[in-house]
Amino acid sequence: MTQQTLLVTGGAGFIGSAVVRQLINASDYHVVNIDVLTYAGNLESLKSISDNPRYKFEQVDICDKENIARIFAEYQPVGILHLAAESHVDRSIVGPGEFIQTNIVGTYNLLECAREYYSKLTDKSQFKFVHISTDEVFGSLGETGYFSETTAYDPRSPYSASKASSDMLVRAWYHTYNLPIVITNCTNNYGPYHFPEKLIPLVINNALAGKELPIYGKGDNIRDWLYVDDHAKGIILAYEKGQLGESYCIGGHNEKTNLEVVQTICKILDELQPKADAKSYLEQISYVTDRAGHDFRYAMDPSKIQNDLGWQAEENFDTGIRKTVQWYLDNQEWVNHILSGEYQSWIQQNYSSR
Ligand code: NAD
Ligand code: DAU
Repeated sequence: MTQQTLLVTGGAGFIGSAVVRQLINASDYHVVNIDVLTYAGNLESLKSISDNPRYKFEQVDICDKENIARIFAEYQPVGILHLAAESHVDRSIVGPGEFIQTNIVGTYNLLECAREYYSKLTDKSQFKFVHISTDEVFGSLGETGYFSETTAYDPRSPYSASKASSDMLVRAWYHTYNLPIVITNCTNNYGPYHFPEKLIPLVINNALAGKELPIYGKGDNIRDWLYVDDHAKGIILAYEKGQLGESYCIGGHNEKTNLEVVQTICKILDELQPKADAKSYLEQISYVTDRAGHDFRYAMDPSKIQNDLGWQAEENFDTGIRKTVQWYLDNQEWVNHILSGEYQSWIQQNYSSR
């Protein structure tokens, strides 16, 4: 078979690195990871596959038109999986500018470069631009109901508004220019290599460090949690089997209140890493000021991707959260390099000469 290359943007991030590891370990694709390495980009997450001859890294900003055009021309990809983004809601509240730049302008730049490249392809049959988005574009649910592909967009945070804008641009490039696109909208991910600003890794690390476990408001907000490798599988399936112009909602029906999530982590840690004084990690829970505009509930109906593409989640929350806590216990060096800032010097040392 001839060599087939996929571009992955944001491949040094949490979900992008899971996608890259899965493509290298479980497929024949060659992979070019395009990542500018913001604070959230960490090449240590790709250590296990970085020497594989099918893997290449390009430290490039998705807003950099010249270099993105060069990458398309040089690698002649059969598709692009677009994950690069500013992803943290709290940061978007404090400083929305970078979210507008990367999530909207960066996506626009990728679409334009992809359009130019696609227009010149002699074999147009395989190329797809897969845009990775979020359930947050749909807004907030009450106690009942689910988001699906037909739910109207109603984003409420600067982050979700920037993602919704990028989804709209991607759709417009399909309808206006016939660029072959597929969109995925996924629920909250968790699992290995998750940056420790997000709820689950933050709670695990704070618990082990004897710090407070901050719960926004009363802890009754609900998120629908999906193990990251199940999301990665859905993204690759969307590339291989997704219908052009369609979007697919991904989620595993694992709704939990934030308090339930934190309590579960504490109980697993009590079992796996009991404290010397035999007290429970639950005692470290602390209720703090709520997030501005905090969406109450997210929950996804994944029927379409299940029925049309045959996607199924392998992990449920009980199995996935236990694996995740164990991973953090076994990979304290990865976490400590982030907390100390060493992960960025590791990147300098290991990649400056390549
Ligand atoms: P992340 O913050 O862990 O990683 C983002 C990656 O993008 C980082 O490696 C960063 O260096 C890179 N990046 C940022 N700006 C860039 C730029 N201008 N040019 C090139 N690279 C850049 O994010 P994540 O949690 O892995 O999320 C990946 C994607 O999935 C995002 O598009 C996010 O909106 C979407 N998503 C995330 C979740 C979730 O629960 N984390 C759920 C649904 C959808
Ligand atoms: O739903 C998908 C989204 O999930 C993705 O699009 C985002 O990129 C991703 O960051 C995530 O957004 P959330 O805001 O839901 O994730 P976060 O881990 O920041 O927060 C999860 C919930 O926990 C949320 O209700 C806020 C709450 N929280 C968060 C933190 C960091 C706390 O109670 N305390 C905390 O310290």
